[in-house]
Amino acid sequence: MKKNTVISLVVLMIFAACSKKSSTGGGTITPPVIKPDTVLYTMLPFPIGASVNANLMQSNTKYNGVVKKEFNSITAENAMKFGALHPSQFTYNWTDADYLVSFAQANGKRVHGHTLVWYTSLPSWVTSFAGDSAAWENLLKTHIQTVVAHFKGKVVSWDVVNEDFEDTGIPRNSIWRQKLGNDYVARCFQYAYQADSTALLFYNDYGHEYSAAKRTAIINMVTALKNRGIPIHGIGMQFHTTATQSDANISAAINTAAATGLKVHISELDVRLNAAAVPGLVYTPALGELQASRYLYIVKTYNAIPANQRFGITTWNVGDADSWIPGWQGAPDWPLPFDGSYLRKPAYYGIINGVK
Ligand code: XIL
Repeated sequence: MKKNTVISLVVLMIFAACSKKSSTGGGTITPPVIKPDTVLYTMLPFPIGASVNANLMQSNTKYNGVVKKEFNSITAENAMKFGALHPSQFTYNWTDADYLVSFAQANGKRVHGHTLVWYTSLPSWVTSFAGDSAAWENLLKTHIQTVVAHFKGKVVSWDVVNEDFEDTGIPRNSIWRQKLGNDYVARCFQYAYQADSTALLFYNDYGHEYSAAKRTAIINMVTALKNRGIPIHGIGMQFHTTATQSDANISAAINTAAATGLKVHISELDVRLNAAAVPGLVYTPALGELQASRYLYIVKTYNAIPANQRFGITTWNVGDADSWIPGWQGAPDWPLPFDGSYLRKPAYYGIINGVK
């Protein structure tokens, strides 16, 4: 088939889809009034990223192709976590992370670093480390500074500390807090800043949209750090959320974060359709539309904060088949803007419609 014929066919198919949807009446997401060659990142006034799996990037050409085509920012899904990068005390394994950084450089993508300090994904040499508090401090500082220095000039931003609060708003009793005291968080930011004073440093967590107590605790902490002159530049809100989450809760999360004046990253977005973990649930067009309406609302609310605070939105992986959600939830789900074959779902158009 000639190229022109293919393009005409695609345009016709989109036109047919539009006519069909509009005849179903209200409540649906307006389908794409976009050209067949549209790509996501060109449609948005802020960076749009995906977390990527290093193995899939290398083994699955469709996956790699969608990342290359649709996004202009990437986060390593797992390859920059402590256990992956630093498997034993004197060994660093940069292979997968360096591969992702090279991909990004070759294709003009931004790289956001995830994550320097977290209570989990720790190698056993850390969880069983027997040193005194000075040795623990050295362990923390060495890890942060070795990693940040390795990627200096290539990774523009870091989740310095991840998930430091419980859902109740109580600081998490992590191994770091146990060994190093409550103020270890501030020192993590200082250590990262010493290693790369140009990187943007984020505190990253989840639950802002469903726990007001946690949200308040996070905002209080980052505000206190900022007021003390600790080098913190942004708040990452993971937004592992659900299709039934309310407008009010989504707005409260985004607008409260923006009110700090810090940059705001929606850092791990996915929207669950099966939060009740119903076994054997099947995806339906109605569920797809409901999900699209949440993506749209999140993007619309985010787009309304000041432009210089919009660090970007990152989805947590690319296609539904790659998502961590079904495994974590123990039930099927379809949380992402691309389906298992990397075709665009209504959620994809929800994102685009969110900035209209
Ligand atoms: C998840 C990954 O997606 C999984 O592949 C891995 O097994 C566990 O971690 N919050 C975070 C992310 O900050 O790093 C998590 O990623 C999802 C929850």
